[in-house]
Amino acid sequence: MNTVVAVDGPAGTGKSSVSRGLARALGARYLDTGAMYRIVTLGVLRAGVPLDDPAAIAAVQVPLSVGHDPDEDRAYLGAEDVSAEIRGAAVTRAVSAVSAVPAVRARLVDLQRELAHAPGNVVVEGRDIGTVVLPEADVKIFLTASAETRARRRDDQNVAAGLPGDYEAVLADVRRRDHLDSTRAVSPLRAAEDALVVDTGEMTEQEVVAHLLELVRRHSGVKP
Ligand code: DC
Repeated sequence: MNTVVAVDGPAGTGKSSVSRGLARALGARYLDTGAMYRIVTLGVLRAGVPLDDPAAIAAVQVPLSVGHDPDEDRAYLGAEDVSAEIRGAAVTRAVSAVSAVPAVRARLVDLQRELAHAPGNVVVEGRDIGTVVLPEADVKIFLTASAETRARRRDDQNVAAGLPGDYEAVLADVRRRDHLDSTRAVSPLRAAEDALVVDTGEMTEQEVVAHLLELVRRHSGVKP
């Protein structure tokens, strides 16, 4: 039997790293739905469409595909590998506006369901997986941490990557994205009623993965 694990939560909770770690430990496929919104955003930016025109954004056709391997972060726009570009500042700035467009969400939700229902165990990571995309998922996890903790982590990552550190600016950006993601009309960010809420603030990445494995073991038939 296939086990479907949904992992939702805001940016900076360690969601991507722990979702990958969980998929690895379960021998499951890993589906990064945020990467899909990022690829569409890159397509929209390249089309030169204004970000305050939802109809024009919806009209941009973006042929996209993503890898399923938790150890390899692969994203394609058509045949072009855009894995690095979708993590850049331009896409990160624009992605909230693009992911708020209902037609974009409808298209991606269909694709996400199709990919999640392929054979085999899968960990699906995003913002609305447990609430909208896969409400029937076997295990739903919602990761949280304070805005300050999440900003501190992101700022540390920037510094480790050789970028200038600016905690206050990062904190402002975390709050801005939280607000946009949780107040948008379509699929706002919130925990499903039956989600298992995990605060990652005081835990290391390894501790979170171990804890999630235990939750999956307890709440599904899987024996990791
Ligand atoms: O997880 P991420 O930072 O790569 O996500 C990029 C953006 O996409 C983020 O601003 C929220 C949005 N997103 C979404 O609206 N729904 C999802 N299922 C995944 C991401």
